[in-house]
Amino acid sequence: MTFQVVGFGALNLDKLYQVNKIAREDGESFIKSVSESCGGSAANTIIGLSRLEMKTVMIGKVASDREGELLLDNLSNENVQTTGIIKAEDGRSGTVMGFVDEAGERALYVDPGVNDLITLDEIDLNLVYNTEFLHLTSFVGNSIKAQEELLEKLPTKVKISLDPGRLYAEKGINSLVNILKRTDILLINRAELKLLTNNKYKTIEEEIKSLENYNIAIIVVKLGEDGCYATDGDKSYSLKAFPVKCRDTTGAGDAFNSGFLYGHIKGLNLEKSCIIGNYVASCCVGGWGATNSLPYKNNLDEFLKTI
Ligand SMILES: Nc1ncnc2c1ncn2[C@@H]1O[C@H](COP(=O)(O)OP(=O)(O)OP(=O)(O)O)[C@@H](O)[C@H]1O
Ligand SMILES: [Mg+2]
Repeated sequence: MTFQVVGFGALNLDKLYQVNKIAREDGESFIKSVSESCGGSAANTIIGLSRLEMKTVMIGKVASDREGELLLDNLSNENVQTTGIIKAEDGRSGTVMGFVDEAGERALYVDPGVNDLITLDEIDLNLVYNTEFLHLTSFVGNSIKAQEELLEKLPTKVKISLDPGRLYAEKGINSLVNILKRTDILLINRAELKLLTNNKYKTIEEEIKSLENYNIAIIVVKLGEDGCYATDGDKSYSLKAFPVKCRDTTGAGDAFNSGFLYGHIKGLNLEKSCIIGNYVASCCVGGWGATNSLPYKNNLDEFLKTI
């Protein structure tokens, strides 16, 4: 089977604990309620693309535990192929534990678990040889090596999109050379672009110019409620976000990526692809959670009639 987009990034089960107060050193607090949701930046984006009826598959790793089952079931329920997901016999699936107090203050603990134990020989290369896009997002630890090694094996016709997130942006430009030089579309937020370019520049334009050696065809900078800025080196656009009552920004950037990649793969121009990115992200922030309110193809088709 040929896929349009293959996602490759960490898979996490997010466990959100509502607590009376966040425990400090030597302190003790109690948990009032807990809710769970499936997460991971690449997985969120791939789910968004699947809802828009793109053929998708995920590469990642889960353990043989309850969390791993939930992550796999969630992807299957969203029509994402899971044949690229490696199942470890030992270890723990990735989890993110979030503790939120009454004032909304949060503390997050990431347990990468088996996410950090991916090696190239475990990856089914047949899934990636014929895809249009490979979409990469971050890992906490060593699986970045498997991503770099995979890129070396890929034919040039496979295009690469990268959302480095804070984790990879923080590594700084020198640690990401191998990935950036193969990247066709960089999807990044403003704070991450600053981190990636080592806080050396003042404007977005200067930051983007400093990346010119990497020959990245398209750079899209996500600007939260201000929308996005995108350039292909020739034309540049600043596009406002859609006015929507914002409930929860979890996964907004991932949702934007789904819409943008959809537009790009369908052959739409840079401006239209950004508009679709902003639209899909606005659906995301208008609801709760990273994927619950992502639009389906018929929703997008209705929207496209209005622009
Ligand atoms: N308040 C808002 N109203 C409408 N749209 C929004 C709002 N906040 C974010 N968005 C949309 O979401 C997109 C992505 O948001 P943002 O720039 O915060 O990305 P991000 O920081 O990568 O997000 P994430 O935290 O999910 O990684 C924006 O480009 C915009 O289209
Ligand atoms: Mg992001």
